[in-house]
Amino acid sequence: MAKSYIVGNWKMNQNRHELNEFFGHLEKEELNPGNFWIAPQFIHIQTCIEKTNKVPLKIGAQNCSDQTSGAFTGEISPSSLADIEAHFVILGHSERRALFNESNELINSKVKAVMGNKLVPILCVGETLEQRESNETMNVVLDQVTKGLQGVKLGAEDDIIIAYEPVWAIGTGKTASPEQAEEVHAGIREKLKELYPECGENISILYGGSVKPNNIDDLIKQPNINGGLVGGASLKAEDFMALCRAIN
Ligand code: 13P
Repeated sequence: MAKSYIVGNWKMNQNRHELNEFFGHLEKEELNPGNFWIAPQFIHIQTCIEKTNKVPLKIGAQNCSDQTSGAFTGEISPSSLADIEAHFVILGHSERRALFNESNELINSKVKAVMGNKLVPILCVGETLEQRESNETMNVVLDQVTKGLQGVKLGAEDDIIIAYEPVWAIGTGKTASPEQAEEVHAGIREKLKELYPECGENISILYGGSVKPNNIDDLIKQPNINGGLVGGASLKAEDFMALCRAIN
């Protein structure tokens, strides 16, 4: 069965003081280890990893290079993330696709590089409002899934997560209705079962886009929604904890 997760994507937010407060608050809470993940800015990953001795979160990155090492000024390699014991990397977020021109081919190369370093990739997919309004949602999303996973083999030990984030629902306060989201998640599930007959049923598919404590329950009631990839509501410890409790 697919596992459930709440993954906080802090984006370019949260300074040292704010993250200290966040972790301080969580120290008092009971959290199931394994299901709750945070992706801070690169510069804070190490600090957050050190804090996991008191708060059982998994820490990862919001992006990385598809290269292992060498002359790539300003890039962060998946091997260096593995070296400091990061757990996962978010790849192909719509902000990276739109603002940094990341193609499906580059994202696919990053997925392979991340898996080659035993980190868990969270492959993000999602349609724009224009694509939804012209009935292209399923085509766009399944194309992103297929191209993002091109040539990716999954063994029994390998872990990978898909996140469906409709672009029009990110940071806008407009959540896809649970039914709208489930329709796309069910399509992604069928594609995963076709690509990976052995394990496609067990791959977690997270929903992202204005997930809040007041809508998480209805979202995760859907059979193919296995948790959330959360931006804004993951920045406040109280909201993050409320989301984690919903999954617990
Ligand atoms: P919001 O939860 O702020 O809409 O952001 C979603 C997101 O982009 C998570 O990756």
